[in-house]
Amino acid sequence: MCGIVGAVAERPIIEILIEGLKRLEYRGYDSAGVVVLDQQGNTSCTKREGKVGVLAKAVKEQSPQGTTGIAHTRWATHGVPSERNAHPHQSGNRFSVVHNGIIENHKELRKSLSVDGYTFISDTDTEVIVHLIHKLSAVYPDLRSAVFAANQQLVGAYGMAVVDSQSLGQLVVARSGSPLVIGYGLGEHFVASDQLALLPVTRRFAVLEEGDVAQITKESVSIIDASGEPVSRPIEESDITADAGGKAGYKHYMLKEIFEQPEAIRRTLQGRIVDGKVAEDAFGNGSLELFEAIKHVQIVACGTSYNAGMVARYWIEQYVGISCSVEIASEFRYRESFVHKDSLLVTLSQSGETADTLAALRLAKSLGYSASLTICNVETSSLVRESDLVYLMKAGPEIGVASTKAFTVQLAALLLLSKALCEAKAINQEFCTDAAEALNALPTHMEQAFSLEQSVKVLSEQFADKHHALFLGRGDLYPVAMEGALKLKEISYIHAEAYAAGELKHGPLALVDADMPVVVVAPSNDLLDKLKSNIEEVRARGSVMYVFADSDDQFEPGPGLDVVNMAHASHLIAPILFSIPLQFLSYYVALVKGTDVDQPRNLAKSVTVE
Ligand code: M6R
Repeated sequence: MCGIVGAVAERPIIEILIEGLKRLEYRGYDSAGVVVLDQQGNTSCTKREGKVGVLAKAVKEQSPQGTTGIAHTRWATHGVPSERNAHPHQSGNRFSVVHNGIIENHKELRKSLSVDGYTFISDTDTEVIVHLIHKLSAVYPDLRSAVFAANQQLVGAYGMAVVDSQSLGQLVVARSGSPLVIGYGLGEHFVASDQLALLPVTRRFAVLEEGDVAQITKESVSIIDASGEPVSRPIEESDITADAGGKAGYKHYMLKEIFEQPEAIRRTLQGRIVDGKVAEDAFGNGSLELFEAIKHVQIVACGTSYNAGMVARYWIEQYVGISCSVEIASEFRYRESFVHKDSLLVTLSQSGETADTLAALRLAKSLGYSASLTICNVETSSLVRESDLVYLMKAGPEIGVASTKAFTVQLAALLLLSKALCEAKAINQEFCTDAAEALNALPTHMEQAFSLEQSVKVLSEQFADKHHALFLGRGDLYPVAMEGALKLKEISYIHAEAYAAGELKHGPLALVDADMPVVVVAPSNDLLDKLKSNIEEVRARGSVMYVFADSDDQFEPGPGLDVVNMAHASHLIAPILFSIPLQFLSYYVALVKGTDVDQPRNLAKSVTVE
């Protein structure tokens, strides 16, 4: 999604802005732009369609010397990707604005501002903001007051940064629904939609709250809240290192993140299992008393996080013995759902800023849930700040658009949640003991699973000329098949669907032929014999099958049936372990196809708009 970077300093800031944009590239975008102002108020604005590198080349030729500036990567929502629609948008050769989010009442505002004589040159919703601020500056000469007044007329979600060539040496930023952080330097200040953008220049950050408007100069930061009252926001030191966004020698972030999984799981579980039991504060203070009374769990999430939730449904119903529903956030937020008595709302999110998941949480607050818990990877995110209970994943920054380590860390956290629910209710001691052992052994098993990389790489070549693929699983491995299909779709652009293996004969079997590779996840569990029958049904239709199996089951390969054996491990962690070869599969198929692995077309890392 869109990214914002801004800086105000004594020194020229163009390189800081461009580096910041590069560090935000992972979020997904289609054009980029920058405006800088020098100390005389001369404005230099450059925009380009395509990659930040193209913009960087253009600004290098111009070499602007400005000390105040804002920059943006745009992910098109209103208007095609183009230079004309790229940000910053400007008004009257004076005001420049960059914006993340969507202005819902842009049509009405565009109409009335046009009547007032403002000329629109883009198709974006953003352009209304800059003309509106320009118009209001006649009544509110102070830039922050004009931005605050504009906010009262804007409907939608936004994070924005504004500069004015007649308000030298200041930036004004506003947050309403889309995150912004202020970075504190020595005699210089910065702003960004994601602190990763600023790590080379500062590690001290304050997170703006909803409704905040801040005036930032090189010496000072002055914030007012949604009611216009002066406020201060705590400045905290980030523990993310500046090179956390680097590839550490890997060809792609995705591959690096696949290999980071054992360490990410170790960090995420550290201190959270004590003497075989879930630590009292693992899910937040008071969580265990609350869990004791919980009779239903409602999970809400999107994409990969939703798939993790689907695995948890099997675990919670089987081991905790209470009902669990899982729903896609964009559906949940717009329907009248039934709220079970004593129900816990659980949101799952890597970023903590997914617009639909956040809206679902906000809606749920008025629906009578006992409490909300978020399992999330970003400590400063909106979901973490707005949930009653938090399980902070410690996966580290995930840069590849295709989620990998966030998924397996979410699964580990959800297995731990199932255990915490059992312990709080003093039930199913056997599962509690097995889960602790399985989780402790998990990182080592994951490291063993990496040895499959080469064999999966070899078989991935057989997918390169395919247009469709099927993924099959049963029980808690069905959502793992869903996740495998999602990964293949998003980075290799091969159409892939997942089915619960028993469902195939109810329709999709008609699709099966030699051109439709079928991938099966087949761990050793109670459903294995059923799954084997399903495999034979498919095989009899002439398909080419790739089965990931537990080595203990001695799955026989044969014509049309490739078997990749996984080392035996507890069935409790099979969904986590079997995810690894599927991640390799999508990665290597994408490599063979030459697609953009880390920034697949049309996708964004953090989906902060509806
Ligand atoms: O940050 P979140 O976990 O809330 O993001 C949810 C989805 O947008 C995300 O998982 C998406 O599906 C990924 N591209 C999948 O790889």
